[in-house]
This record gives sequence, structure tokens and C-alpha cells, in this order.
Amino acid sequence: MMEPSAKPQPAAIVIFGASGDLTQRKVVPALFNLFLDGLLPEKFSVIGVARKPMSDDEFRKRLREGVDKFSRRGRAADADWQKFAANFHYRAAAYDDAGAYGSLAEQLTQLDKSWDASATRIFYLATPPSVFETVAGQLGRAGLYKERQRARIVVEKPFGRDLASARSLNKSLGRIFSEPQIYRIDHYLGKETVQNILAFRFANAIFEPIWNRRYIDNVQITVAESIGIENRAHFYERTGALRDMVQNHLLQILCLTAMEPPVAFNADEIRNKTVDVLRAIRPIPREKVREFAVRGQYGEGKIGEKIAPAYRAARDVAPDSATETFAALKLFIDNWRWQGVPFYLRTGKRLAQTVSAVGIQFRPVPHQAISYCSVGDWRQNCLMIHIQPEEDILLSFQAKQPGPIMCVSPVDMRFCYHEAFQTPTPEAYETLLLDVMEGDATLFMRADQVEAAWSVVTPVLESWESERPKDFPNYASGSWGPESADALLAKDNHTWLSPSIGLGAKKADLKS
Ligand code: NDP
Ligand code: BG6
Repeated sequence: MMEPSAKPQPAAIVIFGASGDLTQRKVVPALFNLFLDGLLPEKFSVIGVARKPMSDDEFRKRLREGVDKFSRRGRAADADWQKFAANFHYRAAAYDDAGAYGSLAEQLTQLDKSWDASATRIFYLATPPSVFETVAGQLGRAGLYKERQRARIVVEKPFGRDLASARSLNKSLGRIFSEPQIYRIDHYLGKETVQNILAFRFANAIFEPIWNRRYIDNVQITVAESIGIENRAHFYERTGALRDMVQNHLLQILCLTAMEPPVAFNADEIRNKTVDVLRAIRPIPREKVREFAVRGQYGEGKIGEKIAPAYRAARDVAPDSATETFAALKLFIDNWRWQGVPFYLRTGKRLAQTVSAVGIQFRPVPHQAISYCSVGDWRQNCLMIHIQPEEDILLSFQAKQPGPIMCVSPVDMRFCYHEAFQTPTPEAYETLLLDVMEGDATLFMRADQVEAAWSVVTPVLESWESERPKDFPNYASGSWGPESADALLAKDNHTWLSPSIGLGAKKADLKS
């Protein structure tokens, strides 16, 4: 993360797959916002590379449409856009065309000359993963990796589809680039509220002493989406919720929630501590996957007033598809801090609400001397860290109800990002792109982290792949997932905390 008021060095950003969705929807709107905030270098250039024939003007027009539609600031002002877009160029080329990389190298050298600088060179792989190794190999052949201080490669997710393929991709990249040159994206780490988990835990003295098995009963991580798979059937059919969300986003949130205090806030230290968590996760035995993991697929249902069709009815989805659109796991972390504390993770498409949250359920008081006003008012202390769309932290505790009788009922204390800071929150891609320009890899996945995360989910993947689900679809669109996800917690006498707890929520919300 950048020093306040510093600006990165001149930068040339080469985006492979620049004709695609990610470039238009995320990467360029993020660059444009950095530009408007005065955070891009004075001298920067973006070179889009893809096979589709396009002129520079057509490329810029497409990107403008993306910015107008997807930027957090809405439509771009003409003058700002013209100034920004003048730095964009497009090259139509096949990803395996060695000559194209040679002339790219010349173009980069020319930029250096015209800027009288040794610009940072960022190679962003915004292509489908099938192309990653081809592009990296060609960058290698063209010698574009050599100046290790300034050449960086950004790799999008998914990083592999299992442990073996992730290892193989790490090896291929590692033959060309050194580890500090490789920036593996998990965009959840770029979210302000996710980074705030670190600030909350380690910049305050009062939480750390109770952040352990003595005081915490269980931890619940929910990343729920009400959207379906949109137009991504080709990708999603062979991916599923476990690969798409759990292996990366949910496990990273778990790591930040469970890690030991870092000695310093730098890339190696943070990543060492998070990888320790992944390594301490108790492996799920293949034969016991049913006890620890639940999968689901949405059927038809109602989201708001609208009927949402079943997953299997979506275009390009097999009518008997076994792909899971919901996954829930129970994990244990075998170390001193967390021994015996279950971590419950769940994610799904077409759920009742779009909400991501970490719920920390504290242990009950050891002895209840004070009565509750009514039986239903009983609630263990709970801390709810809302990641999105609400960005806040709620602490739920008991308070005396006014009146002559000593009885208590639950109330909430709330910190809300926007109210406290009254400043717009940058998009995750803004933070991450700036970090790449700065050469700060703290919020990026290291090779061993990705592999450790794949190791956690591998037994579940293998078990699910070896046995077709018999009950799909097993949850209605607009619900909170299959009943078996409730049963996963019920076995331990736990229930899912409603991620919308607080915000004026009453005890009825406690049921998900
Ligand atoms: P696209 O499918 O839009 O692909 C990007 C570009 O890559 C296309 O415009 C196309 O350009 C080229 N391409 C597509 N398929 C192939 C192929 N089979 N072989 C060679 N080139 C191909 O993907 P996205 O832009 O959506 O995503 C890019 C990467 O980012 C992927 O790895 C994706 O998983 C990841 N990602 C995307 C997100 C998003 O919101 N879109 C979110 C998170 C990650 P051309 O044909 O012109 O060469
Ligand atoms: C992506 C997944 O990584 O994250 C998508 O591929 C998912 O399936 C998305 O919708 C969720 O990201 P966010 O930032 O919208 O919560």
C-alpha cells in the first residue's frame, strides 16, 4: 500500500485479452478512477493486446462504454476521458505470435526513450487461463521478464483448477519470472472492508486478548449472492462454487480472521502468517467429506417479486448438470489459538440476499445471574463484520431494559465506514492495480498460498467429482441454500447467524 501523496514511477501496462469483459468492466474503470484521483503516474501508457482486429479509436470507444457503465463515479466527463484515453493503444495479435512480442518489446523501449525513464512494465493476463502459459512463455522468449525490478506479471483467477494444475502453472511462471515479479489476484483482498479485518484486529488492543478459543464459540463466513451465473455458463459449468469462491475468496477471509499478529505490515510477513493458517487447517478425510461439506444447486424460486429460473434451465448448462452453485464447509484450525473452534464457510448463487460477512459468535456467559426479558431475547455476544454491500461492524451485546425490573435484551453497537469517514471507497481493482505499480505484493497470493488453499479443498473436490449428487436442485432460488447446510451446523448445536444481524434487525432475523 502506497505512502500518502506518493506517485508511482512511470508505467507501461500491457493487457492481454484486452478485448474482453474484465478489461472493460473492471480494469479500465479502476485505472480511470486512479487517474481522476491523481494516483496514476504522470507518464503512463496502456497497450491492449488481443486477437480481435480493432483500431486504437475502436478500442478506446469500447473502454469508454465500460467506464460510463461500470465506474463507481458513473459517466466520464469528456475532457477527463480524452486526456486519459490518449494513453491507450491497441495491438491485434495472436497470443503465440513471437514476432508480436518482439515488436511489443520495441514499443516499450521507445516509450522509455520518449519518457527518458525506465518505466515499470506490467503484463496483465486478462485472458482465459488456457492462454496464461502461452503468454508468459512468449514474454520469456522476448526477454521481457529480465529486468526483475521493473517487469511484473499479473495473473487473474482462477489460478489452476486443482492442486496439480496450480502447481504446474506456478512452475511454468517460475521458469520465467521470479516470485516477487508475480502478482496473483484475489480481488477480495483489495476490498477495503477485507483489509479492515487486519486493522480491526491488529490496530486495537481490546480485541486480540479475546480472539481465541477461550472466548470464541464459532466463526461464520458468508459470501452470498442473489445473482445467478449470468452469461458465464461455459466457465461456471466446469468450475462450481467451491473452486470459484471457496478456494480463494472465502479462504482468504478466513486467513485474515484467524492469522497470528504480524510483526510488520509487509508482503512476506502477512503472507507467511496467512499461509500458516492454511497449513494448520485440519485436512478433511475423503471418507468423511459428508460430515464437513455440503453442496447445492439452485432450482426455480422467487427473488423479490420475480421468478428466477433454475440453474439447469440457464443457457449452455447441461439439463442434468452436477455443478454446485452453493458450497458450505466446516473447518478446524489445528493450532493453540483455534483448537476446537469450528469455522463455518458458505457461499452460493441465487441466495436470498447479496451479503458478505464474517460473524464471530462468542461463548455464552459462564453463569446467568440476570434474567432475560423474554426467552427469545437470549443472544450470545456476536460481532458481525459486514464486507458488502453494507460496510460496517456490529457488536451485539446485552443491555438492561429500562424499567423497575433487572432484565436484559440484546442491542447493537455499530461502526459504519461511510458515516465515520465520509469518503468514497475505492474499488478493489483500484487498490490492487496501484499496488502492482508500487511493487507491493502484500494483497496478492504467493505460490505457496495458492497451493495450500487448493490442498484444503482438494478432498472435497475429489469426493464430489466421484459421486454425482442425487438431490440437485436442492434449494430454491431466493432461499438461504439447501437444508443440509443448516444440518451441518445443527449437529454442533449451532445455527447460521443472519448476516443481516443488526441494522435494526430483530431476533427473528437470527434465523437464516
Ligand atoms: P473473456 O472471455 O472476455 O476473455 C478475454 C479475452 O481473451 C477475449 O476478449 C478474447 O480476446 C480472449 N479469449 C477468450 N477466449 C479465448 C481462448 N479460448 N483462447 C484465446 N483467447 C481467448 O474473459 P474475461 O475478460 O471475463 O476474464 C479474463 C480473465 O479474468 C479470466 O481469467 C477470468 O477468469 C478472470 N476474471 C474475470 C472477471 C470478470 O468479471 N470478467 C472477474 C474475475 C476474474 P480475443 O479473442 O480478441 O483474443
Ligand atoms: C468472482 C467470481 O471471483 O467473484 C464470481 O468468479 C463472483 O462468480 C464474484 O460473482 C463476486 O465478487 P464480488 O466482488 O462481486 O463479491
